[in-house]
Amino acid sequence: MCGIIGYTGHREALPILLGGLSALEYRGYDSAGVALVGDGICTVKRKGRISALREALATVELPTACCGIGHTRWATHGAPSDGNAHPHGTARLALVHNGIIENDGEIEAFLRQRGCDFVSETDTERAALLIDRFYGESGGDPVAAIFSAVAMLRGAYAFGVVFADFPERIYAIRQDNPLIVATTAQGSLIASDIPALLAYTKEYYRPDDGVLAELTPRGVRFLDAAGNTVTPRSERVDFDVTAAQKGGFPHFMLKEIYEEPVALCRTVRHYLGADGLPRFEENGLDASFFSRFARVHIVACGTAMHAGLIGRYVLEKLAHLPAFVEIASEFYCREPLLHSDDLVILLSQSGETADTLAALRYAKKKGVSTLAIVNVVGSSVAREADAVLYTPAGPEIAVASTKAYSVQCALLHLLAVRFALCRGQLTKEEARRICDTLVEQMPQRVEQVLARAKQIERCAGMLQSAEHLFYIGRGVDFSLCTEGSLKLKEISYIHSEAYAAGELKHGTISLIEQGTPVVAVVTADHLAEKMLSAIREVRARGARVLLIVTEEIAARLALPCDDMIRLPAADVLCAPFTAATVLQLLAYHVAAGKGLDVDKPRNLAKSVTVE
Ligand code: F6R
Repeated sequence: MCGIIGYTGHREALPILLGGLSALEYRGYDSAGVALVGDGICTVKRKGRISALREALATVELPTACCGIGHTRWATHGAPSDGNAHPHGTARLALVHNGIIENDGEIEAFLRQRGCDFVSETDTERAALLIDRFYGESGGDPVAAIFSAVAMLRGAYAFGVVFADFPERIYAIRQDNPLIVATTAQGSLIASDIPALLAYTKEYYRPDDGVLAELTPRGVRFLDAAGNTVTPRSERVDFDVTAAQKGGFPHFMLKEIYEEPVALCRTVRHYLGADGLPRFEENGLDASFFSRFARVHIVACGTAMHAGLIGRYVLEKLAHLPAFVEIASEFYCREPLLHSDDLVILLSQSGETADTLAALRYAKKKGVSTLAIVNVVGSSVAREADAVLYTPAGPEIAVASTKAYSVQCALLHLLAVRFALCRGQLTKEEARRICDTLVEQMPQRVEQVLARAKQIERCAGMLQSAEHLFYIGRGVDFSLCTEGSLKLKEISYIHSEAYAAGELKHGTISLIEQGTPVVAVVTADHLAEKMLSAIREVRARGARVLLIVTEEIAARLALPCDDMIRLPAADVLCAPFTAATVLQLLAYHVAAGKGLDVDKPRNLAKSVTVE
């Protein structure tokens, strides 16, 4: 949700800024801009992708500058346009911003009373002019100006600011939005996320909210609002620049789907002890933790929430632990009743999703225990929760989440096994057998699905020209359908709905007409007969059914369909994982077959840092 980058050092800034923006483009891509600081500030910005900015830059005479900031935008205040693109500012300063200033109306009124006028519709321009005003009042003190301005702001932001009077410096500050800072032999950088820095360093700082970073080519100092120097802990990533590149795949999404077997195996191994059972002691979760709770609330957004549905299923089935899944934005708005023996699990790939963060804060305010499951180390959700478990999926660049979902499901299985052991619902032998299946068989079966990709691509042809379609399933298969449907919608722009197969006849079946595609997911053996009825009902009304079914069920029961994708024969535990990969590949091939920009679907952005 907007990417910011800044560089000050001994090299020319522009190529570094453009490289950083390309690495951050997944965060927003409706306009982009840079501000170069040399003899004054030169700002160039354009509506559209970074390629449009590059074209614009080629038409202007640019100063050679070794300091600058850049931005790639996901519009919140004001439509995507050249004028609303960042950076914003005055002749004295330029500002890039990720987030939302909630009291921008108040700030605008304050500035208008003092004679300011605005050229854009953005909250960012209001913030820039506020800093400029205090800069003037302070006699040209950037630190005083920024701290005075942020004291008046409400909302979430990460700012990068440059001043014409200080051509070697970048200032950066954040509140509830991601921002990292790095220093290298070639200079100092700020960025919204790690991929933008990987070409230069694997080490970085993540300043706390309200801490101001002052970067020069020689290093960085961090100041709190009282003017004290503070030293954030330095962090290090364990993946390199190739992990954030396409590696020969046409899209990041496809690459990330193909990374699933390895990511799943790594995740399960990471949390298994020498005895073959899940271990979370190193994360501060011992036996007393797992016997403490009477209920679990899994709170997340979008795809992560759908992983939560799979988690609910295994927590209830394996551990007999009542589990509830809630959309994060509804959780904190609905203000549910929470008890002292409740556990709230926050699931998030990025760990920066504003709604999930707000839900976490709500739960903490209510005094209940919180556990974060996140992919990005050191992210806000990870830092604020009482405990954290990381999903070692590696960086996920495609906007549509795939491997992060699969590893979240795997980790939730392990948690369910751990709860089950503590609650006496599984013996050690039973638990060990489940874990063996998860670590050995499950990744192999996902690999086998990938080997059937050509067949899945062929089946995608059946959905490509549809305007509307349905995904139907029962039980865990319905949960899988919710994710399959979201994946298709977000990248192919085909309207689809996931329906509990039993619910269709209570109204929605009226939408089925001759030729309506229906994807039926059937992996739960005990529900297969009931799915047979649902499939017959929709076919009788003209639906064309694409069946996704396990080998075992297909061999036992003749389910009528127009085409079929068989999931490799496996332990029943593997089915949610193999089916998920099929559904992801199906969505991918529909979108890619339509020639769409799979990695950057319209209107979306990775990491949604606004509520
Ligand atoms: C869809 C997708 C989103 C995210 C959601 C939560 O493919 O990626 O639905 O799952 O925005 O994001 P995280 O997991 O970063 O909290």
